[in-house]
Amino acid sequence: MNARTLPPTEEPLVQWPKEGVARVPFKVFSDPEIYKMEQEKIFRGPVWNYLCLEIEVAKPGDVRTTWVGDAPILVTRDEHGKLHAMVNRCAHKGALVCLKEKDNVPSLTCVYHSWNYSLDGQLQTVAFRNGIRGKGGMPEDFDPCKHRLQPLRVATFAGIVFGTYSDQTPPIEEYLGQSITRFLARNMDHPLTILGTHSQMIHNNWKLYAENVRDSYHATLLHTFYTTFKVNRLDMDGGIVLSDEKWHHISYAKRATLQEAEEYQTAGVHSARYESALAGPELLDAWTGFDDNITHSIQTIFPNLVSQLTLNSLAVRFFVPRGVDKTELYWIFLGYETDTPEQTQMRVMQSNLTGAAGLVALEDGCINSFVQRGTVTSPDVAAFIEMGGKTAESNESSRATEAAVRGFWHGYREIMGFK
Ligand SMILES: [Fe+2]
Repeated sequence: MNARTLPPTEEPLVQWPKEGVARVPFKVFSDPEIYKMEQEKIFRGPVWNYLCLEIEVAKPGDVRTTWVGDAPILVTRDEHGKLHAMVNRCAHKGALVCLKEKDNVPSLTCVYHSWNYSLDGQLQTVAFRNGIRGKGGMPEDFDPCKHRLQPLRVATFAGIVFGTYSDQTPPIEEYLGQSITRFLARNMDHPLTILGTHSQMIHNNWKLYAENVRDSYHATLLHTFYTTFKVNRLDMDGGIVLSDEKWHHISYAKRATLQEAEEYQTAGVHSARYESALAGPELLDAWTGFDDNITHSIQTIFPNLVSQLTLNSLAVRFFVPRGVDKTELYWIFLGYETDTPEQTQMRVMQSNLTGAAGLVALEDGCINSFVQRGTVTSPDVAAFIEMGGKTAESNESSRATEAAVRGFWHGYREIMGFK
């Protein structure tokens, strides 16, 4: 082979700026090839994906359909009480096997050609396997054992069912790390009840939401309700804790420690000067359920799970990529089985704080699409993310930082091989 016939050197999909996690090339939010690679390397790679809550598949025969990246997945509990997860794709022609969000069935039957699977995904029967009246049918070497639904590994922690395609994913507690498991257990490791659920379509790449929920810098600037009514401000004691690998994070605040920092008056934070009052101030009545004085927390688990406890509003959010510039954001509002009727009522009332139309979440439904629209024509320009430093480290004294956003990119670059 002479020089003229040498194949062209393969260009990496993205040239990451030398500043590392303090820069993010806009190309990653709009490039279809990168989106495709994320499905394989991240969602079908060595991560634990949120599948559903254990209480959604509590009984034998329960089935819950869900998503891992953009792949349809189903979770079942078999007759022995064991949980299973598999790709919701018939081994015959690839049709969806389960069509309902939730069901309770003795076995799984594909509606197209009636192939039937046990709750652990083994192929049990094939319609007309031996043909009709001795004619037709499957060849003699057909072996049902070779045609099961594609399984995922399953793990549970704090009432959450996780799934992974990869044999390389470490055990769930190791994947989350000590600080994340401890805090997730604080909020979620109680007998849970679902108070309500909904979802919303947001018109942005999934990673913009992954950044947004890690971005403590924006919380009291974009969300004027937080600042005006002093629910969560950066002049309350609080901090950011990153997991050892930096992929996951916790952001927390203690409402009783508000210090009325001068910067809220001088930095053009209009909402700090609003003379507003709530017609129904009981919205913000809350009880303290923990002795650490933390009244607001947002916790992320890479790649696409969030657990929030704002005052008493406990919720799980997960966000599913629906294409390079579209994401479906699911909200599941929770209580504890031990809640009194008054406490349930307070949690329901406070569910107005977040969700698609939430008083402190409404803005996130559009701000990420503003970034999508602002960046789509500038793939070679990069975001500048240096608030609080250039590296991704925990900071338990300030949330005026983008450390957790940098932590996400640390994980992303590592798993995608974008160094
Ligand atoms: Fe936000």
